[in-house]
Amino acid sequence: MNADLNGFLKKAVKESWALGHFNISNLEQLRAILNAAQSAMAPIHIGTSEGERRFIGLKQAVYLIKAFREETGLPIFLNADHCKSVASAKEAADAGYESIHIDLSAASFEENIKGTKEIVEYAKSKNKNISVEGELGYLRGESKIQKEIVKIKPEDLTKVEKAGEFVEKTGVDRLAPVIGNIHGIAANEPKLDIERIRKIHKALPEIALVLHGGSGIPDDQIKEAIKAGINNIHVNTEIRLAYSAALRRTLAQNPEETAPYKLFSETIKAVEEKVKEKLILFGSVNKL
Ligand code: G3H
Ligand code: ZN
Repeated sequence: MNADLNGFLKKAVKESWALGHFNISNLEQLRAILNAAQSAMAPIHIGTSEGERRFIGLKQAVYLIKAFREETGLPIFLNADHCKSVASAKEAADAGYESIHIDLSAASFEENIKGTKEIVEYAKSKNKNISVEGELGYLRGESKIQKEIVKIKPEDLTKVEKAGEFVEKTGVDRLAPVIGNIHGIAANEPKLDIERIRKIHKALPEIALVLHGGSGIPDDQIKEAIKAGINNIHVNTEIRLAYSAALRRTLAQNPEETAPYKLFSETIKAVEEKVKEKLILFGSVNKL
């Protein structure tokens, strides 16, 4: 049942834990995340945003994942994160991504349904095991430290009835709702709407609900969110912070060093530690 991504998500829904999704833009981050997944015996979801995949290359990302999958035997799934157009999602499906996140949440409800449904049909005609995620609601912020307070308006949040209609009309495997989360880390602490997660999960008990903006949310809220029905959690900013802080430290401490593989060894360890911490928090350890 769980050899493909949808199988693992079904298992996560049934057993109430969350599959970790971590964004990458280079090989060092990927190595670090996979080291953590391997030692935790955890299935793993790797994401590239449109900017990240432009930097690595779509084919390059697909083949890197394939190489690591063959070498480690780990269930590693590559996600085209936040595809902002139908064309962008099709490009990723054509390149061989096994997971697509079509994010038309900025469009009208009808346009979002139309484009998302088109991608579900297109992606599944190419690969019947592909997993497709849609997004509904207005998610604020960016994957970085934001010095200002980010306020969420009531109208940003996903409505329970709309979530049901969206899933029914599009046929997505996963849904990203807006439930008090934001991208990145803001000056104010996030406050997840746990009751809203519970209601959406009750309306869609078979669907994996995805928590975007996993950085900067206190651990107790993450645990509550998983209990309420979140089964897939995206983390990017915290990975970027661990990476850049360790690299800055190494460069400052070793001004004469020029070998990249030496300069990056502490950076890889720092990201690996951060990911291990998250895999334990998400309950995805020993789920192979
Ligand atoms: O899709 C990526 C995530 O939602 C990352 O959010 O940068 O707040 O961890 P984050
Ligand atoms: Zn996101």
